[in-house]
Amino acid sequence: MTIHVRAPGRVNLIGEHTDYTGGLVLPMTIDRWTEIRCSPADTVSLRSDDDPNPTVLDLHIEDLAAVQPQWAKYVAGVVAEMRPSRGIAGTVSTNIPIGAGLSSSAALEVAVALALGFSGDAVGLAELCRRAEISASGVPCGIMDQLTVAAGVAGHALLIDCGDLTIEPVKIPDELEIVVQFIVHRTLVGSAYADRVAECADAEKLIGPLRSASPYDVMSIPDAIIRARALHVVEENERTRDFAAALRSGDLRAAGELVVASHASLRDLYQISTPVMDAAVERMIRQPGVFGARMTGGGFGGCIVALTEPGAITDGWVVHAVDGAARVE
Ligand code: GLA
Repeated sequence: MTIHVRAPGRVNLIGEHTDYTGGLVLPMTIDRWTEIRCSPADTVSLRSDDDPNPTVLDLHIEDLAAVQPQWAKYVAGVVAEMRPSRGIAGTVSTNIPIGAGLSSSAALEVAVALALGFSGDAVGLAELCRRAEISASGVPCGIMDQLTVAAGVAGHALLIDCGDLTIEPVKIPDELEIVVQFIVHRTLVGSAYADRVAECADAEKLIGPLRSASPYDVMSIPDAIIRARALHVVEENERTRDFAAALRSGDLRAAGELVVASHASLRDLYQISTPVMDAAVERMIRQPGVFGARMTGGGFGGCIVALTEPGAITDGWVVHAVDGAARVE
């Protein structure tokens, strides 16, 4: 095997459902990876740990409909977008839980693109992999996941402006531990995710880009549902900016309050939480040493993320920010 790449998962600390309207997000990579070990070949032939049959794809694949299982669709999406001049043959393995909202699919896409010899910057890599994700899943996602996986910085969260695609690493204070708890499996395929994207587009037809709208602008939207969705986005962008400032100044109480407010907004205005996720957050924020907690990711299940004092919570994964995806020499 001559090629070895690894791509981390990610957890979003704050800035949820803001990326596809060009807003602010603040995710971090986590110390769990998808790895590909392979050699150059004429096709793309990958075997996963959990599946004895290799997926074999032609380099000229266009139609993803017949590709099975789902993980192979993400591989095919990258091949179709990238049109590589050579293929690979090898294995793919991961310790990122699937269906947890920790970007296992983005990690796979980025790993495949690098194994196929992608050369370009993190933004170009993320844009290619985002297109692959959309064609593989049908979910009209934003760029946060792929860009975080591609551009992660050890010890830092990334303040990403999804409008101009600038990235500012924000150091995670030493006194802060990030804990992830996997609550319930979820899929965004067929979920109300696409409805939320459409509702934001409706709001933008009325008041222009949400990334530059104020709560006052939002109040002019006549439809109560569209108004609520837009208010979430506008306030979440503000919370994300404030959260980055709180991390920089080490004000962990303020950071905790902002993530709790983010959860309430996702629950009440954006309506993408569930009673099980709400109960998990409530339980978490009552624990001593917890600054705040919220559901994280696309919604309807998945994980909660908690900001805690070191060692406060033993039930979950303490995650650490690592460097973004790369070829391992
Ligand atoms: C999913 C999508 C992202 C983003 C989040 C919600 O993870 O892939 O683009 O929209 O949901 O913040």
